[in-house]
Amino acid sequence: MADIPDITREAQDRAASPPLESRVEVSESTLGKTKRLSRTGRSRKQVSSSSQRRLVVVSNRVPVPKDGASKAGGLTVALEGALKQSGGLWFGWSGDTVESPSDQAKVVQAGNITFAVLDLSQRDYDEYYAGFANRALWPICHYRLDLVQIERQELDGYFRVNRAFAASLAPLLQPEDVIWVHDYHFIPLAAELRRLGFKNRIGFFLHIPWPPSDVASALPAYQQLLQGFGAYDLVGFHTPQDAENFQRCLVRENIGSSIGTGEHEIDGHKVRIGAFPVGIDTETFVRAAANAERNALVRRTKASLGDRDLIIGVDRLDYSKGLKQRIEAFSCFIKSNPDFRNRVTYIQITPKSRSDVPEYQRMQREIAEQAGWTNGSLGEVDWTPVRYVNRTVGHAALAGLYRMSQIGLVTPLRDGMNLVAKEFVAAQQPDDPGVLILSRFAGAAHELDGAILVNPYDTEACAGAIARALRMPLEERRERWDSMMARLRTNSVEAWCQHFLSSLGNVSSEGLEAHATTNPENGRYPFSEGAPA
Ligand code: G6P
Repeated sequence: MADIPDITREAQDRAASPPLESRVEVSESTLGKTKRLSRTGRSRKQVSSSSQRRLVVVSNRVPVPKDGASKAGGLTVALEGALKQSGGLWFGWSGDTVESPSDQAKVVQAGNITFAVLDLSQRDYDEYYAGFANRALWPICHYRLDLVQIERQELDGYFRVNRAFAASLAPLLQPEDVIWVHDYHFIPLAAELRRLGFKNRIGFFLHIPWPPSDVASALPAYQQLLQGFGAYDLVGFHTPQDAENFQRCLVRENIGSSIGTGEHEIDGHKVRIGAFPVGIDTETFVRAAANAERNALVRRTKASLGDRDLIIGVDRLDYSKGLKQRIEAFSCFIKSNPDFRNRVTYIQITPKSRSDVPEYQRMQREIAEQAGWTNGSLGEVDWTPVRYVNRTVGHAALAGLYRMSQIGLVTPLRDGMNLVAKEFVAAQQPDDPGVLILSRFAGAAHELDGAILVNPYDTEACAGAIARALRMPLEERRERWDSMMARLRTNSVEAWCQHFLSSLGNVSSEGLEAHATTNPENGRYPFSEGAPA
């Protein structure tokens, strides 16, 4: 099969394609006060115009502006950046579990974004989110077959929640809406919407890797999941490799037929498949970093370091991030470069994540122990080599911490993109930039060629990369940084959003009729009762 094209490039050339316009539909609620939409989902102020298209984003995690800070994760950061530009409706889970969840979304209006969210019952949370999404899909897509837990009930819960979310989204939708579904939680959502008769353009973007078919085929209900992608008009991935892996999976499972490079026909409906590397809000981050010197946490941290160099890592506490290997590499670096003892500090900022999933609980204990052991064996009375912090740090302070670091250590074992790598680069001082050490298994490695690329499983090589980065001459650091920064300026989050949506706007919607009536059969998935998982 020919290589999957990078649709981003294609879309960049298509200068004539206008970005989709958007409208704000529900404007009666104010920030901080939630409101339930009526079953029809229409508020008095809704205006419908066939010449305008509203953007509807669907994702599991929706950072409704409220008292607390939003949850960590690249997805919400990227989508916040994307929706800020165009406005629209953002639909998904509230982040709360309640005894009897309503099937009507709670709505919060904030600026040009309307947030519409549903709560989950404890059972739905356990089966759909903590279960199938994070114990089957997540580990498999991150190539961790050793951590997979397959339960029939969780699989059913996943499809049940997708069906329920589609039904609750339905009354909020209008015929001209362009729907953009995000991430592994909602793969079957479009099939459910088609079943309800929706013919809107629907795109899907996967924020995590898609593995080769030998790994992906460990997914329970693998065929049905793949078939479900056929209800989308456009399916996007971070890298051409992920997109290629995905199309090969379709071919190997005889799902529809390939009708060209990056195009597949499933149940008479054409699906485009391509790579759209997500970016950051580069200019905003550059400004935040430049202003961060005044930030109190940044100032205190600087003072606490004295004249030591700083290495920084920032990740959700997840086994895909390679934290164990990273601490080992740092330890190996100190042991093999004793002149750096007491001259460098490694700060690892790691908010806890998915702590009710057993695989995460185990890993959290192990990493904490390892950080403790490392400090115990390497540290001095006046030097803590690893500062391991399970807290979320705000964006402004992070920007400042990146800027004062000599090294950004971003070494996931597998990652869809990794926006920390991009933020670290954007935060640097142009005349004295730090060095990015980046795993070759992060999607960002495809773009950030100025980083020192490492194999995160190779402890000594990672230790060597740290030594090399700390000794790198200014001229080389500048050269590397310049080339990465040029990429970040072109591939911003705004560009990502525009390229995806203009590609989605350009797909034809032929075949939707056929799809809506043929899949899934009788409106029921064959595995929901008694079928093999
Ligand atoms: C990754 C996933 C996102 C997810 C985020 C945080 O970035 O791709 O979909 O929202 O992690 O994980 P959580 O389970 O807390 O939503």
